[in-house]
Amino acid sequence: MTNLLITNGTVLDQQGERRADVAVADGVIVAVGTATDASDALAARQALDDAIVLDATGCIVSPGFVDLHVHLREPGREEAETIETGSRAAALGGFTAVVAMPNTDPAHDSLPTIEFVRTQAARAGLCEVAPAGCITLARAGEQLAPLGELAAAGVRLFTDDGNGVQDPALMRRALEYARPLGITLAQHCEVASLTKGAVMHEGSCCSHLGLPGWPALAEELMVHRDIELARLTGAPVHFLHLSTARSVELVRAAKAEGLPVTSEAAPHHFTLTDEMLVGFDAVYKVNPPLRTPADIAAIKAGLRDGTIDAIATDHAPHPPESKEAPLDQAPPGMLGLETALALSITELDMPLADIVAALSWKPARIAHLDARHGRPVAVGEPANLAVFDPAAEWTVVPAKLASKSRNTPYAGRTLRGKVRHTIYGGVPVVIDSVAQR
Ligand code: DOR
Repeated sequence: MTNLLITNGTVLDQQGERRADVAVADGVIVAVGTATDASDALAARQALDDAIVLDATGCIVSPGFVDLHVHLREPGREEAETIETGSRAAALGGFTAVVAMPNTDPAHDSLPTIEFVRTQAARAGLCEVAPAGCITLARAGEQLAPLGELAAAGVRLFTDDGNGVQDPALMRRALEYARPLGITLAQHCEVASLTKGAVMHEGSCCSHLGLPGWPALAEELMVHRDIELARLTGAPVHFLHLSTARSVELVRAAKAEGLPVTSEAAPHHFTLTDEMLVGFDAVYKVNPPLRTPADIAAIKAGLRDGTIDAIATDHAPHPPESKEAPLDQAPPGMLGLETALALSITELDMPLADIVAALSWKPARIAHLDARHGRPVAVGEPANLAVFDPAAEWTVVPAKLASKSRNTPYAGRTLRGKVRHTIYGGVPVVIDSVAQR
């Protein structure tokens, strides 16, 4: 097993911030304290001589990040991403666990597919991949997936992501099962009849460009409906990638009433507006679409006051030929894993501790991964850690990203905040910003 000394860093977790060295042996944190405490703890286990020393000067040492929303494309669309390449992008972004969305081919609606994803992830060994199960078979919105069977196999988050569950009776039934099964349903909020043929946010910009619009209402109606279904059933609902000011307001009010709802926002929804589409470049096409400056302000306010629990990337790789298609034919989605931390640090006017909370322990809890991830940096805890320099500046160069696809809207942007090391299961899978596998 690997033994590690993480030296000269500042530990930041749910217990606050302090200067400390961290020692790791056999996958577990064995000391958090002075340099002497850390080396003594390893020496006592005959683990000092072969320990790898990771310099954390100028860095934060925090629990590893947990992304509630990534598309790894395997099985079915390996030309865009594989579990291995997506896991590598995740590790480089400081993530030690990701939730893999089920819009694969086949979709995650059966045990063999879930097992396949887990096997591929274990083979890559770069981060934990928790496959989200489908709510309905083939995400078709007609018949429930075998929720009980998948829950028994350890699946804890279920969604038809990419498709909102349109039928309220079916969603109600799924929530009635969810509560006794101890699982969480995550909703992609989109009333499909309101977004047929839509290309971008419905507003002045889309009228100006003459493109079919994607009304904010399509999202907000489903947020409202599912808040009411959470009230009726008492089962938790997680709202995926909120993008509108009114959605944030609805969730804020639901939380104030004590309803069991949580939510996430993607970095592109607090950094980019619909005006980016003036050049008709499909790299800016995403579902839900980029909205207005007022929506961005509301998303940021939601993150600041905790209405939005988590920053989740909606990492959605697409090969160049599909993104080069005309805007109405190009698929929605953009990369996110390798830029999430830096965009959050650069663009959010929030204390670093709150940013790390939204990237780590809050999503870990929503994903039911909090026995292993988002844990305090403390003796006896599993060593799933991110070590990052919050002041380091770097420029996004698509060709240098580990993802198999290149569809980042941030090419050429200089951002602040860079992951230096990522430790997964006690193993340094990223050292000095270089993936080790
Ligand atoms: O932009 C998006 N792309 N939104 C989704 O909901 C799905 C995703 C994808 O799979 O490409």
